[in-house]
Amino acid sequence: MPDTLQRQRVIPGELIFQEGESASCAYVIESGTVAITTSRGGSEVMLAALHAGDVFGEMALIDDKPRSATVRAVDPATLIILGREQVQRKLEGADPLIKLFMRVILRRLRRTSGLVGDGALTIGDGRLEDSADDTAFRSLRQQAIEMLDRERSLEQGLERGEFEVFFQPMVSLANGCATGFEAVLRWHLADGSMREPATFIPLAEEAGLIARLTRTVLKGACEAILPLQDAVTMSCPAAAPPFVSLNLSAGELHEATLVEAILGALGAAAVDPSNLQVEVTESVLMDDPEQAARVLRRLKSHGITVGVDDFGTGYSSLSYLQHLPVDVLKIDRSFITAMPGSSGSRKIVRAVARLARELELVTVAEGVEHANELALVRECGCDLAQGFLFAPPQSLADTLDIARQRFALLSLAG
Ligand code: C2E
Ligand code: CMP
Ligand code: CA
Ligand code: CA
Repeated sequence: MPDTLQRQRVIPGELIFQEGESASCAYVIESGTVAITTSRGGSEVMLAALHAGDVFGEMALIDDKPRSATVRAVDPATLIILGREQVQRKLEGADPLIKLFMRVILRRLRRTSGLVGDGALTIGDGRLEDSADDTAFRSLRQQAIEMLDRERSLEQGLERGEFEVFFQPMVSLANGCATGFEAVLRWHLADGSMREPATFIPLAEEAGLIARLTRTVLKGACEAILPLQDAVTMSCPAAAPPFVSLNLSAGELHEATLVEAILGALGAAAVDPSNLQVEVTESVLMDDPEQAARVLRRLKSHGITVGVDDFGTGYSSLSYLQHLPVDVLKIDRSFITAMPGSSGSRKIVRAVARLARELELVTVAEGVEHANELALVRECGCDLAQGFLFAPPQSLADTLDIARQRFALLSLAG
């Protein structure tokens, strides 16, 4: 493993930094010993001796204050330097509750060890609010409370059954039959409004609730498979039974129980695994390709198919198409939208369709809204299309209604 961390070697008695100075880094002691001292009433008081493995200089970086104590080497020591910018980027990106708790702990430490103000030993009254950085502290506390509130309302929504699975057809460009249906979540709030995934999926991921949401979609998706297949049989008796696909988030491929949960939901709905597809984005695949390969191969061994979502927008290395068991490429809406006005986009879509055919993958054009886009994606050789032109995502009942009729490609394409 490369070790690019900066180090500092110090000799016995050497000053590392002094109380009151501004801070540019924190340290991990690799070897040796340092002494932490503070001045009280004109004399130097020893606070601690720290050894290999200990960390120091972190306090000033956490709450942006001057050094609370002086640090000197006791014997020859090697220190690993953690730069201020890098540490602060991490701290900034941390969860608001963790940031708040860190500040609280630090304030208590400063109070109880008399490290506040001029260094005179003071016993705090335990209250955390009275100093100059109160504004920052209050806003941190507010952020943490609001985040917990949003997460709790999501959890309550799950408990109260406020989530509904909607479905959107993927239509065969050869015959207008619905070949598949993508399951997407909707959240019905108590006030009657409806929220779309962009407003709650990131929150669910952050709150560790995504697996529970996925269980909800999984149940709804599996239970919808047979009714959707019955409906399509009425419009397209000769067509293969349609599949239902569901979206997996980053991190879900790491979850040990995912495959069992999927197989369990399929079993409970008495449907064959070959009727289910999972959609993952390229970034989810590339996050940990080995783990992704393991999970997708297990799904594949049961007959579940795999679609690459938003194809063309991620950090894509085409080599994964060789190594991962992928069945479907869903060409991102941005390319489809651009097609009428951009020959470059048309070329890309045509090339992707050709590549897919070569690799025996199915292509889906995402976000087809207009007749001219439909004509272009057909001409470019896509297999399926999904978009508002055919149907928006809607409730199972509404989807069953439209699925009983075949989509009229020619009249739509004008
Ligand atoms: P996605 O997987 O790319 O899903 C397609 C999104 O495009 C859906 O948005 C759909 O409403 C929208 N769409 C479909 N046709 C058209 C069109 O013709 N024009 C336009 N402008 N948009 C169209 P939705 O339902 O808001 O979902 C947004 C994203 O949220 C999804 O993008 C997916 O990444 C995520 N998502 C949705 N449901 C779930 C879920 O159950 N689990 C997870 N992990 N993610 C989900
Ligand atoms: P900082 O305030 O950045 O610089 C001085 C460092 O000394 C401080 O971070 C802590 O890492 C460390 N320090 C302060 N007080 C104590 C203590 N009571 N015991 C051990 N280490 C301390
Ligand atoms: Ca999707
Ligand atoms: Ca997509």
